[in-house]
Amino acid sequence: MANQTKILFPLGIATGAAHCNRQIERDALEDHILSGTHTWIWSRRRMGKTSLLEQVLIDVPRNSRSFVATKKLDLNLVHDGESLEHAIREAVGALTVQIREENNLSEAWLLSLFQSFKPELTLGAFGQKLKLTPLASPQDTITEALLKLEEAAKHTNNKAIFAIDEFQQLSQLTYGKADHSLEGAIRHAVERSANVAYIFAGSERHLLEEMFENRDRPLFNLCRKLTLKRIGASHYRTHLNTNAKARWDRELTEEQISHIFELTERHPQWLNGLCSILWRESTPPSEDSIRAAWNDLYTEQLSVVQGTVTSLSATQRALLVGIALAGTVQHPTSRPFLESIRLASSTGNSAKEMLTRQDLIEQNEDNHWRVVNPLMAKYLRDTNNQ
Ligand SMILES: Nc1ncnc2c1ncn2[C@@H]1O[C@H](COP(=O)(O)OP(=O)(O)O)[C@@H](O)[C@H]1O
Ligand SMILES: [Mg+2]
Repeated sequence: MANQTKILFPLGIATGAAHCNRQIERDALEDHILSGTHTWIWSRRRMGKTSLLEQVLIDVPRNSRSFVATKKLDLNLVHDGESLEHAIREAVGALTVQIREENNLSEAWLLSLFQSFKPELTLGAFGQKLKLTPLASPQDTITEALLKLEEAAKHTNNKAIFAIDEFQQLSQLTYGKADHSLEGAIRHAVERSANVAYIFAGSERHLLEEMFENRDRPLFNLCRKLTLKRIGASHYRTHLNTNAKARWDRELTEEQISHIFELTERHPQWLNGLCSILWRESTPPSEDSIRAAWNDLYTEQLSVVQGTVTSLSATQRALLVGIALAGTVQHPTSRPFLESIRLASSTGNSAKEMLTRQDLIEQNEDNHWRVVNPLMAKYLRDTNNQ
């Protein structure tokens, strides 16, 4: 059972039985993929982008009548133009091998398609691998390789999904130089691709908005945008009850569910953190056991939370504490609120900006500001309320 509960409420990627709802987003992405529309996804960190990508990479091939090749790249593992083109070359190789195997295409076909890359087909521990040699520049390699992938998918009438996670890293690869040629190289191929659907996901909103919504940047107007919000209460209620029935053969009471929501504020990571403890028990949770499990999670996370809070400037910390003590604040930079926490208006604005950028505060559904991590809010309240 311990294993099963871990799978139902993971701290890492949630797919299958662990994946709560996201039906609207899953349907939208499936539509985009089948119609050759490219997408960029934004959400705060830990809201479920990677889980959604992984789930869609399972859903779409399963639902589709024709073959769908899939690959996900994580740009956190890439540090310069060369490592980007290397990762893209490998991904193109992997997707094309999937297409070739599905369609029983000859080796000669594959090698001739990628002729300019001096291709080599090798057999390794994980099956066949297509090795491609880089062209003159990373930009040429990226464009050419992605165009060849589209050619392979079109030739076989197959679809391919190329998902790129942590995509904001792309804008960091040029070491601050205003060189957008890697974005240009990607655009050139992506706008010519319909059988290969691209999904770009990331959490740094301002960097992504610059890339996709600034008309002077190469990727402008290339993709539809999808924003992930917190999973709704009714979806979580169903998810918890399905899992409660599977575990204890009965649903949770409305009080138990409200208590879980109240503590975790439906933050997906911390809701999973709490439930993974509760679901280890052989009986459904009581009010006391929910509180005790939350305290255990708090103790476990305390040093991480403390580390983050300590790294802030005094002004940022003062604003964060002020918001945590208030619970929610409609106008955190209004003069009365800043005066109540003894901050000057001039510093209040920049502190709010920095806390937002670091995903430490956010606006809730009613447009009131709150601390994002409920465990951090508890820490700030507990240490400033004495
Ligand atoms: N649809 C979902 N249902 C249940 N839990 C989810 C869902 N999406 C994400 N989570 C949980 O939320 C946390 C963050 O998920 P992750 O996909 O890594 O987010 P991101 O990529 O946005 O940082 C993890 O604990 C994960 O298990
Ligand atoms: Mg992620």
